[in-house]
Amino acid sequence: MEIYYNKILLKEKIAEWKAEGKKIGFVPTMGFLHQGHKKLIDESNKYNDVTVVSIFVNPAQFNNESDFINYPKNEESDLEICRLSEVDAVYMPDKEDIYDNGKIPDLQMKIPHLTKSLCATARPGHFEGVLLVISVLFHIVEPTNAYFGKKDYQQYLLIKEFVKYTNFNLVVNVVNTVRDEDGLALSSRNARLTYEQRTFAKNIPIAFQKVQEYLKTGGRNIQAVKRIFITTAITSDKLKLDYLEILDAKTLSSVPEVRGVVLIACAIFFGEVRLIDNIIVRV
Ligand code: PAJ
Repeated sequence: MEIYYNKILLKEKIAEWKAEGKKIGFVPTMGFLHQGHKKLIDESNKYNDVTVVSIFVNPAQFNNESDFINYPKNEESDLEICRLSEVDAVYMPDKEDIYDNGKIPDLQMKIPHLTKSLCATARPGHFEGVLLVISVLFHIVEPTNAYFGKKDYQQYLLIKEFVKYTNFNLVVNVVNTVRDEDGLALSSRNARLTYEQRTFAKNIPIAFQKVQEYLKTGGRNIQAVKRIFITTAITSDKLKLDYLEILDAKTLSSVPEVRGVVLIACAIFFGEVRLIDNIIVRV
C-alpha cells in the first residue's frame, strides 16, 4: 500500500494505472475509519482493480469551528485499517494540496432542488463544501467508481446529481449503512459520545424499528410517525432534535403521507455531538 501526501505523485500513479487499463475505485473519507468505511472499501475492491482511499478533514464543509477542531483523528489506525482492507493507495493531503495556497476558494456549487431540507438547511454551507472537495478529489483521482454511504443519504444524492450535471466520467455507488450491535449507525463522531450519551443513542435504531412496526400495521400518517420516533428517541432533555423529516426518497420533496419510497431521516444533538441516521421504507 502506497501513502501519498502529494497530489502530483498520486496523479503519476493514477496515470500509470490508467495506461494499464485498470479500473480505479475511490472511497473519499475524513478518516477515523470504522467498519462503515471498510464496507465501502470492500465494495470498491470487489468491482475495481485498484482502490484509492482519501483521508482529509475538509474545513470547507464544517459550518461549526468546534466540530472541525474536535473531529476525531487517528492516522495510525486509519492506515492499519486500509492496509488490512487491501487498499492500494491512501491519499492524505494537507489543506495546501487540496486548495490553492491552503485557502478555501470563493466558489459555490449549489443544487437547489436537493438542498431545501435535512442537513442542507440544518448546516448552511455544508454541502457547498462537500461538492467543492469532491470535485477537487475527483479531478485528482479520476476514478471509474466512487463509493458513498447511505447513512449520508442526502450527500450521496447530491454527489450523484453533481456528477450527472458536470459530466465526470465515473459511476457513483451507494453502500448500505453499517451498524453497531445495538443498531446505532457507525460514525466517526460516535467516539465523542459519553457513556450516558451512547446509552441514549441506542434509542435511535429502536425508534426506527417502532416506526417500521407502525407502517407494517398499515399506518401512513406523517404526524404519527414523528410522534412515535420522537417519544422513543428523545428520552431526555439532554438530547435535542435537530430535524426529523419524511421525504420522497428520490426527490427529497415533502410527501402528504408515508407512501411509495420514502426517506425518514433524523439529526440529533447529544450535547455538542450531532448524529444523523435514516431509513428508507417502501410502502
Ligand atoms: P466521512 O464521514 O468520513 O464518510 C466517508 C464515507 O463513509 C461517506 O460516504 C459516508 O456516507 C460513509 N459512511 C460513514 N458511516 C457509514 C456507515 N455507518 N455505514 C456505511 N457508510 C458509512 O462523508 C464524508 O466523510 C465527507 O463528507 C466526504 C464525502 C469525505 C467529503 O469530505
